[in-house]
Amino acid sequence: MDNHQYTWLSEVLPPSPQRILDAGCGRGELAAELMRRGHTVTAIDISQEAVEAARAAGVPARRADITGHSGLADYDDGSLFDVIVMSLSLHHMHPLEAALDRVSGLLDEDGLLMVDEFAWDWADGAAAAWFYDTGSLLSAAGIADFPREPGRPGRDPAERWREAHGDHTPAADMIAAVAERFEVTSLRREPYLSRYIGGKVTNSSTDVVNELWRIERDRIAAGILPPTGFRLTARKM
Ligand SMILES: C[S@@+](CC[C@H](N)C(=O)[O-])C[C@H]1O[C@@H](n2cnc3c(N)ncnc32)[C@H](O)[C@@H]1O
Repeated sequence: MDNHQYTWLSEVLPPSPQRILDAGCGRGELAAELMRRGHTVTAIDISQEAVEAARAAGVPARRADITGHSGLADYDDGSLFDVIVMSLSLHHMHPLEAALDRVSGLLDEDGLLMVDEFAWDWADGAAAAWFYDTGSLLSAAGIADFPREPGRPGRDPAERWREAHGDHTPAADMIAAVAERFEVTSLRREPYLSRYIGGKVTNSSTDVVNELWRIERDRIAAGILPPTGFRLTARKM
């Protein structure tokens, strides 16, 4: 559960029931929350495993590729959506342009696009070091399942970060591709490292994740860490 994402949903989504497409729904947590809020949700994902996990969470997810490039059946049953949500999925979608063209075709004339994203390329050496050091400490404390690199103690965190994330689409490319097709109505840079580590915290208490988020937010405000996430909303032009 991501409280900050849910707060954003409350700020941005119209209160009346919306027809929402969750594109790249993963395990369906967000789709389930949107359904709880009374919206009519269609959830799709390219991964069969993700679709099964989402279904197990009560979300009637279906397998489809939003880009139409994988040989899977295209998603198109003729419905248009009031809102399309892309939560941490756009940076995985290739080709990016095909994904956004399809999204544009599926969105109603007054529709709203919501993109919540990881800006891996905004991380600098300090951000990478903070991420790996914090993850290691939480793992050593037994409350996170964070991959370690045995035998590589002196490794440059920035290099490790680039190796792990270099195949993801950079933030500037995502924002530019959205802006070519939509009118961007809001764009906020956000903390992301705490959210990333939070996904690996095995302790069910949310205190650790909330504290990490507070530290990251304060370090960003002080200019010590860069933001590594963004949230944008956009409308059809
Ligand atoms: C990092 S997960 C995010 C899952 C979820 N939206 C969340 O916020 O936790 C990215 C998801 O996008 C899905 N995905 C990637 N490319 C896709 C595509 N072309 N069409 C549909 N889903 C895709 C992946 O299978 C994966 O489940």
